[in-house]
Order: sequence, then C-alpha cells, then structure tokens
Amino acid sequence: MELEATARRLVAPECGILAADESSATIGKRFEALGIPCTVETRRAYRELLFTAPGIERYLSGVILYDETLKQASQGGARFVDLLARREILPGIKVDAGAKPLAGHPGEFITEGLDGLRERLAAYREQGARFTKWRAVITIDASRPSRTAIRSNAEALARYAMLAQEQGLVPIVEPEVLMDGDHDLARCETVTGMVLHQVFESLHAHGACLEGLILKPNMVVAGKKCPEQPGVEPVAEATLRTLRRHVPAAVPGIAFLSGGQTPERASAHLNALNQGASRPPWQLTFSFSRALQEPPLAAWAGQADQVASAQKLFTHRVRLNSLARMGRYSKDLEAVP
Ligand code: 13P
Repeated sequence: MELEATARRLVAPECGILAADESSATIGKRFEALGIPCTVETRRAYRELLFTAPGIERYLSGVILYDETLKQASQGGARFVDLLARREILPGIKVDAGAKPLAGHPGEFITEGLDGLRERLAAYREQGARFTKWRAVITIDASRPSRTAIRSNAEALARYAMLAQEQGLVPIVEPEVLMDGDHDLARCETVTGMVLHQVFESLHAHGACLEGLILKPNMVVAGKKCPEQPGVEPVAEATLRTLRRHVPAAVPGIAFLSGGQTPERASAHLNALNQGASRPPWQLTFSFSRALQEPPLAAWAGQADQVASAQKLFTHRVRLNSLARMGRYSKDLEAVP
C-alpha cells in the first residue's frame, strides 16, 4: 500500500521529478564545460541552489539524489533530505553503480550495482529516501542492440526493482535507449518497443508490483545525427504508440528522461504527449536532469552572486514542464517573467 501511494504521489497531476543524481564524474564534466571547479563544496553549493529555489515545491513531487548529496546539508545545516521533505518533495536515491562495458559485446553496456544492494537500500531508507533509481543504457547502431544486452539489462532492472520494493522503496525503472547515432525515428521505435517488452517480461517473471513502480523511459526520437529530424507530433505519436503496446496499464506513471534534447524540445514533446485525444492509462510526466538544469547551471557558473537569478531560471523551467505535463505548455511561455 505504501509503495502504491508513494508511486502515485510521485506522478501526481502538475508534478514531476528532478533528476539531480549525477555522479561526481558526470557533474564534473558539466561543471568543467562552464569552468566551474568540481569539489565536494561546489557540488554541495550547486545542489543547495536547486533544492532551495523558491516555488519549486508546487511543481516537483520528488528529487533523485546521488549518494554524496544524500549525506550533505545546506549552509544553514539542514540535511538535504530533511529540507526536501519539509517542502513536501520526496527524496529519492540513485542506487546503480553505473553502466560498464558488457563483456563479449563491444559497444554495449550492463549496469552494475546488485551486490550488497539489499543492505544499501535498507540504509538509504533509514536515511530518509522514499524511492530509488536504476538506469540501464541501450545503444543503437547497425548491429546493436544485441538480444543479450537487452536481456541482461532487463534482468538487472527487475532484480533491482524487487529489492527496492522489498525495502519499501518505489523503484524508478529506467531503460534508456540512447539518442546517440544516426538512426531514424522508426528504428528508435522498434528498439524501444523491444526493450520495454523485455523489461516488463522480466518484471513479471520476478513478481514485481507494477502498481508500486515508475517507468522512466526515453521518448521515441530520431538519433542526434539522423539527417531527418521529425517534428514534435510524430515523436509524440511514436512514443505513445510504443508505450501503449508495451507498458501495462497497472503502472501508475511514466516519467521521461530528457536524454540530450534541448530544454524547449523536451517540454514541447511532453506537452504533445499530454494533448492526445484519447487519455492513456498512465500519468505522463518528467524526470529530467539536463532539460531542467542546463539553464540554471549556465547562469550560476559557480558564482555566488548569480544564485538568485539561476534559481529563477530553474523554477521557471520546472513550471514550464509542470504545464507541459498537463498539456498546457506553449512556446510563448518561454520568456522568463
Ligand atoms: P537526462 O534528463 O539528462 O537524460 O537525465 C535523466 C536521468 O536521470 C538519466 O539517468
């Protein structure tokens, strides 16, 4: 019951999720591109900027944290988990140990982190986490993905989901088909369908409670280098068609990743997905990292005197995606008030 209530709360109307669970290496790359030194303190200060932005609690139901951040506190001494909980934003935690090369399958990956996971999950729950995330990555090119990569990742996702539910934590199940490459929309649709099918087969085989989990998929888009880039409508249609074919109606919500789309494009796609004539059985919302954080991170660029203006951009972006999640976004709303 608790799992189902938490899952429903995460995808409640007007709400979405902030993914702020970049590993220190990943956030380091984003900082480096803007000339921001990557230290424990700059990472902490940046996360404080995000979590204390005025007004976000109206639009965010949850924030996914990284291990380091879960243990950190604001300058005023409030643990981030408590600070978020006080704003009625559920704290979540990324629990995978990253995608590693899949032996025997060059160019493909398997997400690690199952060893000792039960104990880590129990400790995270103790520290205040209420949900979790595990990301699998699937690559597309002429000869990939292999059946083996899809099966292995689906199996790991299902084992993770079972352990999370055992500990009373809602699992966000994230099988990400990457946008890298020159494949077209149709190829992304085929691969995303195969991956989702396998993921739900594995979840079913392990006995996961579908009502108590959230799916975090990619939208069905063409590869970044595809010469033919589809418009917003074809992306929304292909994404909805794929989800309807492969995601059981018992799943309460689907929270998309942004995957390298521009913030505007991600919002436009989410909006179109929520404007379809016939209502899909699941809530369709966001769990973006880059598409929410790019504008505020660039505005802040590590400067203390830019915190307020960066927070304004962040709240604006979160609000636009809340509108998109209700089908009420338009490009005209982009201008920062
Ligand atoms: P992006 O929205 O930047 O794709 O990140 C989402 C995420 O959490 C990846 O695991």
